[in-house]
Amino acid sequence: MEDIIHVDPDLLAKLNLSIPRYTSYPTAPQFQAMEEGIVVDHLKRFDASQKPLSLYFHIPFCKTMCLFCGCSVVLNRNPERQRLYLDHLCQEVDLAARSFSSKRRVAQLHLGGGTPTSLTEEEFERLMAKIHDHFVFVEDAEISIEVDPRTVFADRGKKLSLLKQLGFNRISFGVQDLDPVVQEAVRRRQSEEMTVSTYEKARELGFEGINIDLIYGLPHQTVDRFSKTADRLVALKPDRIAFYSYARIPWLKEHQKAIPEETLPSTEEKFRIYVDARARFMGGGYTAIGMDHFASAQDSMSKAYFAKTLTRNFQGYSVQLAEDMIGFGLTAIGYLEQGYFQNIKDLEAYQSKIAGGHLPVARGYVLNQTDLLRRHIILSLMCHFEVESKFAPLGKVDPLIEEGLLMKTRDKLVATPLGRLFIRNIAAAFDAYLGQGQFSKAV
Ligand SMILES: C[S@@+](CC[C@H](N)C(=O)[O-])C[C@H]1O[C@@H](n2cnc3c(N)ncnc32)[C@H](O)[C@@H]1O
Ligand code: SF4
Repeated sequence: MEDIIHVDPDLLAKLNLSIPRYTSYPTAPQFQAMEEGIVVDHLKRFDASQKPLSLYFHIPFCKTMCLFCGCSVVLNRNPERQRLYLDHLCQEVDLAARSFSSKRRVAQLHLGGGTPTSLTEEEFERLMAKIHDHFVFVEDAEISIEVDPRTVFADRGKKLSLLKQLGFNRISFGVQDLDPVVQEAVRRRQSEEMTVSTYEKARELGFEGINIDLIYGLPHQTVDRFSKTADRLVALKPDRIAFYSYARIPWLKEHQKAIPEETLPSTEEKFRIYVDARARFMGGGYTAIGMDHFASAQDSMSKAYFAKTLTRNFQGYSVQLAEDMIGFGLTAIGYLEQGYFQNIKDLEAYQSKIAGGHLPVARGYVLNQTDLLRRHIILSLMCHFEVESKFAPLGKVDPLIEEGLLMKTRDKLVATPLGRLFIRNIAAAFDAYLGQGQFSKAV
């Protein structure tokens, strides 16, 4: 197993700041009200290019709320409400495609949520047919979806097999922790059998890119208890493991307040859970990628990491196939021709905007030259753990060097092994807007 990294408690406390996860730069608090006309201009400008595209679809529905959840969720058990949402989502695709002169090439499609697998088989077919109306997938396109094992367990693989037929080739399973005590405390009851049998079904169906999501920092987790979850999941041999730090943001997500502070591991214990599990993943042959991903040697993410083509967007780390992305659905965010665009957050308002024939954009941000430079630096650090040293004057790098997080080589600023664990802190040193907005803690 990897050596466990020890960090001085005072340094840990000093680094445990409220900082962004840099799924974008500038981050969401900088977004401002945005007119539809600006989005249309960017869509048209994109149309003039020959670039391929990424597409993101947000399916917000969940039947129950996991208490830790930081995602954009609509609690729903009403099939009619979901059908109506899908009608609007399909209309949104038609509205965006009005700016395109022909079918655009798509290199990546991702369905996220919420719970995309709350869609019925008929709804999946309808959505994919609509996508094919306006877009054409390039050969080797990455077509991925977030799957909650609890929603596909009972049908013994029927929905998973439809996804395979529809062309999905990457699946991400939400697991978080196998420990029943932790699951009970976050109100997410998902037996180990449910997780393992769903995973095995996906393998049997021939899915190659399988990811498992885990979270550290949840109530009642300890190093000892979480080590069992980590070992059991490594034994399954998923292609990737996403190992997220619990983002506690109760000022945005009221339901997180139902997890009492005193049940959470301390900062030191949370960090120990992370380094222990990290060592187990790496001992199992996984490469540590960016701030929270682990990938097997054969996986495209490992290859992208070593080839320095890894990137980061609102879905987290991603293999760079197409930089420009259109986000469809409630709260979805896209990045097109150097501008971020985010859709409306309220379901009724989202639907009525589309019913009126308008794109449902609410907020956004068009980057200036300095933003683009800082975005390059932050992406480079978050994805490759290094950046050209000529950018040093743009960041507060001296304290990072003194703390042992960063070192200077002849032409690069490189994160040290310790700095890799605090890459958000290093990236934050180049963020011109730091301090404007409240974020989860770095550990
Ligand atoms: C949209 S959810 C996953 C899809 C599906 N709803 C599920 O739960 O299986 C994507 C992932 O985000 C992660 N996540 C959600 N809330 C989080 C939080 N507050 N902190 C860290 N990770 C979180 C979880 O690991 C989750 O699997
Ligand atoms: S973690 Fe997944 S299933 Fe749970 S509330 Fe969030 S989006 Fe829904």
